[in-house]
Amino acid sequence: MRKIAILTSGGDAPGMNAVIRAATLKGIKAGCKIYGIKRGYQGLITGEIEELTVETVSDILHRGGTILHSARSKDFKTGEGQKKALEQIEKLGIDGIVVIGGDGSFRGAQILNQLGVATVGVPATIDNDIGCTDFSIGFDTALNTVLDAISKIRDTAVSHDRVYVVEVMGKNSGFIALYAGLGGGADAVLIPEIPPDLDQLVKRIEENDQRGRGHSIVIVAEGLFGGPSGGQVLAEGTAFKVATYINLRTRKDTRITILGHLQRGGSPSALDRTLGTRFGAVAVDLLLAGETNKMVGWVKNEIKVSTMDEAIARKNQIDPELYQLVENLSSV
Ligand code: F6P
Repeated sequence: MRKIAILTSGGDAPGMNAVIRAATLKGIKAGCKIYGIKRGYQGLITGEIEELTVETVSDILHRGGTILHSARSKDFKTGEGQKKALEQIEKLGIDGIVVIGGDGSFRGAQILNQLGVATVGVPATIDNDIGCTDFSIGFDTALNTVLDAISKIRDTAVSHDRVYVVEVMGKNSGFIALYAGLGGGADAVLIPEIPPDLDQLVKRIEENDQRGRGHSIVIVAEGLFGGPSGGQVLAEGTAFKVATYINLRTRKDTRITILGHLQRGGSPSALDRTLGTRFGAVAVDLLLAGETNKMVGWVKNEIKVSTMDEAIARKNQIDPELYQLVENLSSV
C-alpha cells in the first residue's frame, strides 16, 4: 500500500479536517504518497486529485468544513461514472481510499471495494445515524451549536412569554434533537423515531402557563413528519406545522427558528478533533494492514472496527430510555 487517497462526501461535518490531517500525516510517516480527492466521488470521476503534503494539512485541525470540499455525486451512481472513477484510480496507481462521510458515502465505498479498490470508512455526519459507532464526527460540534442557540432563544422567549419551536437537522434521525433537548432543558422534543403527541405538547405548554411560566421551548427534528427532509425547503416546514398547531390550540404568541446549516459549521469541538484524529490514523493503519470494506468506529469509549456492510445495515438507534428521561424531566 504505497499510495492512499482521501475523500470527503455528503454533508460536511466539523472535524472532517482533523481526519484528513491525521490520515495524511500517518500515511506520510509510513512512507506513502497521500492524495486528496476534491468534491467527493464527483471529483474522483473528473480527476480533481492532488497530492497532500505536511504543509497542505498544517493549521486545518481547528477549521470546520473540509479542505477537500464535498459534493453529492449522481454520476457515481452510474456504471459510466464508476468506470471513469476506476480509470482515475488506476492512472494514479492509488492502492486504497479513506472515505469520510455518512451512509451514502459508504455505499460509494462499497462499490469501489467491489471494483477491487481497498476502502476504509470514517463516520462523519452531524446526523450521527451511522451504525456501529456511538459518535460520528461532527455530531458533538453540531450539538454544541444547537445548545448555544437554544440558550439565546430562551432569553427572548422568557422576555416575551413566547413559545419557540426550534427545528434542528438530522435528516430522518432524532439524535441532534434528543441530545439538544437533554442538554438544553427543552419543554418538549419531537423526533421521527417517536410518533408525536401534539395534544400532550399543548397540555404541557398550558400547564407551564398556569404555573406562571409563560415561555416554552420545543425542539423538533426536521424529519419529524417523514418525507424528503434534508434541511432544505423540502422539509415542508416541520417547525411551521408544529408552531401553527400550538398557536391555534393555545392562542399563545409562538415563533419558529430553523437552525439549518448553522449546525454544519464552526470550529470542531474537542471531541470531534480528538476522535477525528484517531479515526484518521486508524483508517490508514487498516489500509496499510491490507484491510478493506471496513469502518472505524467508537463504541463504549474505545475504537471498534466494523465491516462497512454492518455499518450501513445498522443505523445508530435512539435510546428510548433517554427519550423517556427527557420527557420525564420536562413534565415535572
Ligand atoms: O446529512 C447532514 C445534513 O446536514 C442533514 O442533517 C440535512 O438534512 C442535510 O444534510 C442537508 O443537506 P444539504 O446540505 O444538501 O442541504
